[in-house]
This record gives sequence, C-alpha cells and structure tokens, in this order.
Amino acid sequence: MTTNLKNTRAAWLEGPSATCSTPLDVARPWRLILLGAPGVGKGTQANLLRERLGACHLSTGDVFRAAGKRDGCAPSPAMAAALSFMRRGELVPDSTVWEMVRERSQCLHCRNGFILDGFPRTLMQAEALKGLMEEESLLLDAVLNYELPLEEIVERLSGRRTCENCKAVYHVARQPSQTAGVCDHCAGRLVQREDDRPESVTVRMETYERSTAPLIEFYRNLDLLLPVAATGSPDEIYARVSAALQTTAR
Ligand code: AP5
Repeated sequence: MTTNLKNTRAAWLEGPSATCSTPLDVARPWRLILLGAPGVGKGTQANLLRERLGACHLSTGDVFRAAGKRDGCAPSPAMAAALSFMRRGELVPDSTVWEMVRERSQCLHCRNGFILDGFPRTLMQAEALKGLMEEESLLLDAVLNYELPLEEIVERLSGRRTCENCKAVYHVARQPSQTAGVCDHCAGRLVQREDDRPESVTVRMETYERSTAPLIEFYRNLDLLLPVAATGSPDEIYARVSAALQTTAR
C-alpha cells in the first residue's frame, strides 16, 4: 500500500526549531534502522519505506549535505570540518554526529515513526542511541541489513546522480531520468556526489568494513537484525523487506 505521505523533514534537516509537515497519522508507526555498505541502496529503499509506511526518513548524510548547501549562512566550524571528512570518504567524528542527533532527538518521537539511514555507523553511536532510546522509552522494530556483492555496489555508486534541488536519486544506466542530466520531479540539475569519486569510494568501503560492519553483530545480539538481499530492482528488494517486517512482532 502507498500512503505517499510527504514529510518535509524540516526538524531533521534544519534543526529542532523548524516545523515538519506530517499531514496524516499512520496506523502503525515503524521505527527502523537501515544498515549496509555505502551505495547498497539504503537511500533508495528509505524513500520507498517513507512512501509506503509513512515513517520519516532520517539520514545523517542528508543533514551534513544540507548544512553545506544552505544559502545565506556559512556552516558552523564543526559542520565545515564534517564536510571535509565526508569529501574524503572518512567518517565524521562521533562527537559531532552525536551532538547533531541528540539535538534532533525529538525526531525519534515522530508520530509516524522513523527510518534511520546512515546512523548509527560506529559502536559508540549504536551504544549512545540504545541508551537514548531506553531513557526515552522508545522501542526499535528492526534493523534491516542490506547485503550485496562489492562489484555491484561500486557499479551503483559510480553511476549515481542526485538532483541538486530535491535530492532525488538516479542511476545513469539502471534508473535514468527521462532527460539526461535533468530531474524528473523538479527539473533540477543532476550531479555526481563529491564522495562518489573513485578515491573516496575506496576509503568509504574500508571505513565501512572497519567501523560499521561490527554493528551487524551488535544488532544480531539484540535480536533485531533482519538480513535483506539487495539484488534485483528496488521494488523487488522492498517486497522482501515488507515480507520480513511482517515476521516482527512488537
Ligand atoms: P551517507 O549519505 O549516509 O552515504 P552512504 O552510507 O555512503 O550511503 P550512500 O548514500 O552513498 O548510498 P545508499 O546506500 O543510500 O545508496 P543509494 O540509494 O543512493 O553518508 C555520506 C557520508 O556522511 C559518510 O561517508 C560520512 O562521511 C558522513 N556520515 C553520515 N552519517 C555518518 C555517521 N553516522 N557517522 C559518521 N559519519 C557519517 O543507491 C546508490 C545508487 O544505486 C543510486 O544511483 C541508485 O539509483 C542505485 N540503486 C539503488 N537501488 C538499486 C537497485 N535495486 N538496482 C540498481 N540500482 C540501484
């Protein structure tokens, strides 16, 4: 079922003083974490989950990118440093990430649920999130771990193009826009992300293996892990997720 809720994510992208539009209440608010290597398709799946379950898409990468593009004001020193870590493909320091998430902790209470994408990414972040959710009496439903062979991931990343304006994601061969270089939704310009250059992709993959892959065991031990084969079309992958979520009981 498609709920097609359009939450502007303002409180997440701009900070807690901004107001989100959450037009409808969903019957079942899901609280999910998406795990998986860079480029496995988490953002694409988060978008489908948002459309079909109504939960808000909370991507830490999107917050950093939005801070770098905000008109009229320079990013804070911590954000400027975060952007330079990102460009190189390295992780932003835990302290900066945690401060940013903590400031937005109200988003974890979103009445339509949430989809955390790109957070947590280290054991420190996972422990901190677990502590915060316990303090605030919030329960996670599941951690979806998307799995795909490395060659396919690199192919997905090298062909990715993102709309400068609305952030819609395309792939030059697999999910092309109707007119090359132009967004189907808003006619914005499609660009390659700075961290999708080959030298940054190598660093991102190594960082993922070293810092983020250990979270698979962390969430398996908490009995929250749902492995998902990330092969096939986005709709086929979504169908696997949907079936797996039916097996979870809260
Ligand atoms: P972030 O923005 O989180 O990026 P990422 O994890 O590297 O993931 P990506 O956005 O690159 O890929 P994705 O899995 O979402 O794939 P997508 O759907 O776009 O983080 C960026 C940086 O921010 C980090 O490197 C770090 O520096 C910093 N950061 C963020 N959070 C942090 C944290 N918590 N701690 C520290 N640092 C942090 O798909 C990829 C391509 O494949 C697209 O072209 C898409 O069209 C295509 N595609 C998708 N699905 C399919 C399919 N089924 N078949 C064919 N093609 C497909």
